Amino acid sequence: LHVLAVTSEIYPLVKTGGLADVTGALPKALATFGIETHTLIPGYPSILALARLHPPLMEFDDLLGEKATLRHLEIDGISLFVLDAPDLYDRPGGPYVDENGYDHHDNWKRFAVLSLAGAEIAAGALPGWRPDLVHTHDWQSALTSVYLRQMGSPVPVVLTIHNLAFQGQYSSDLLPLIGLPPEVFSVDSMEYFGDISYLKGGLMTADHITVVSPTYAREILSPTFGMGLDGVLNTRIDRLQGIVNGIDNEVWNPSTDPYLPFRFDMKTLRNKKNNKALLLERFNLQPGDGPLFSAVTRVTWQKGMDMLAEVADEIFYRGGRLIVLGQGDHAIENALKETAARFPGKMAVSVGYNEPTAHLIHGGSDSIIQPSRFEPCGLTQLYAMRYGCVPVVSRTGGLSETIIDANDAALSARAATGFQFHPVRPEGLRQALRRAADAYEDKRKWARLQLQAMRADYSWDRSAESYAEVYGRLTEQRFQATH
Ligand code: ADP
Ligand code: GLC
Repeated sequence: LHVLAVTSEIYPLVKTGGLADVTGALPKALATFGIETHTLIPGYPSILALARLHPPLMEFDDLLGEKATLRHLEIDGISLFVLDAPDLYDRPGGPYVDENGYDHHDNWKRFAVLSLAGAEIAAGALPGWRPDLVHTHDWQSALTSVYLRQMGSPVPVVLTIHNLAFQGQYSSDLLPLIGLPPEVFSVDSMEYFGDISYLKGGLMTADHITVVSPTYAREILSPTFGMGLDGVLNTRIDRLQGIVNGIDNEVWNPSTDPYLPFRFDMKTLRNKKNNKALLLERFNLQPGDGPLFSAVTRVTWQKGMDMLAEVADEIFYRGGRLIVLGQGDHAIENALKETAARFPGKMAVSVGYNEPTAHLIHGGSDSIIQPSRFEPCGLTQLYAMRYGCVPVVSRTGGLSETIIDANDAALSARAATGFQFHPVRPEGLRQALRRAADAYEDKRKWARLQLQAMRADYSWDRSAESYAEVYGRLTEQRFQATH
């Protein structure tokens, strides 16, 4: 089975969050089911340098007025189609924002062109290769299925929702510029509160919609989590399915991780404390016997980092330390820095994005904190468990189903893997931190929690099988319909 994935991020080439981890890992996991994926990705500077070493596969003469070259690149077992359109993608900044952190002014065009290229390839523009199915991710590639249906192409499309907070909402004035007819400006198509929504367009035209955890798939049907799209999602409920994300067990493996000065597994867990000592030193924190808590995250309201700034003092009263690595909302970054300034030697905030440091933090921390207000799946808590960090998380979305709270029953059944709190408020987080600090004082209890967390299996095998089933069913239906 040949699949064309269309995405705006892919690990290890370009990543702002979990989306990249998923699009990077899923093709490898699907290969064992006989599914061969090629992934279409914009030619950002970091990718172009490599892709331009290869001869072009084809030229596009007119993607919404742009010329583009399609190139092939194979990296770490992933097969990429790189859309080389320098006016759109070869510029400084990240995939979505410029060097100053502002959205690129033409994101509406950059991701419409990506989606249009995906649709043209799926409809047969690339000589000698045509996919059986297309897999799109979030709003940035959601228009692919809209274009395909406009072209009259029946290729089945799966759309995965990673985060409903980002929808690609623009003025309907743009419709002619993205090559779509006025008819799509209707409630049962792309119209969204007087504007157009790329994500809604995808939701209305995809054959199947997956959501990155079953819990979030349920939550988004309600106004509290639906971000204005709950009504739309309810009309598509028959094709909505939650499939929890997995993790790449090779990239995140504490016994082989090249970023860890001291590697470990369940038998050599004691090595972890050497990483901890190193971390404390690296972040200028005072040594101590208390727990080291960390957060590696986008610093946003979604991730509840403002709540952490508010209640972090709880950690220090208990002799603990806190490291925050992340970037995002400047007001929340500043609130975290202010808390750190009040507790010198106890809390460090590193504003930025740094993959090696993220690994080291998992390798040396006792606990990872993730107090999200909503969390479609969350990968950090899964990496944390693998690295023997006991997560402290809010009970929402993927966090609620991947972490087993250390209540008495779960503790005596030796099933507990972390600490959850609900409702998601600062006081709840404070109490969960207190529970974690208490547990840490009982060394045997803590070691048990760590091992239970490390044993939890969140490799891609199971979830990849669910995707393979979806692909199989859709391509079979399509075959039946045409024969
Ligand atoms: P989201 O995609 O909502 O940001 P996830 O938990 O699914 O949340 O994935 C976040 C990914 O991004 C993880 O791989 C995490 O390690 C990584 N990450 C987040 N912030 C940073 C950072 N500042 N430096 C390095 N990696 C980070
Ligand atoms: C989104 C979500 C996160 C999820 C990731 C990968 O960024 O916020 O919860 O893990 O996508 O699916």
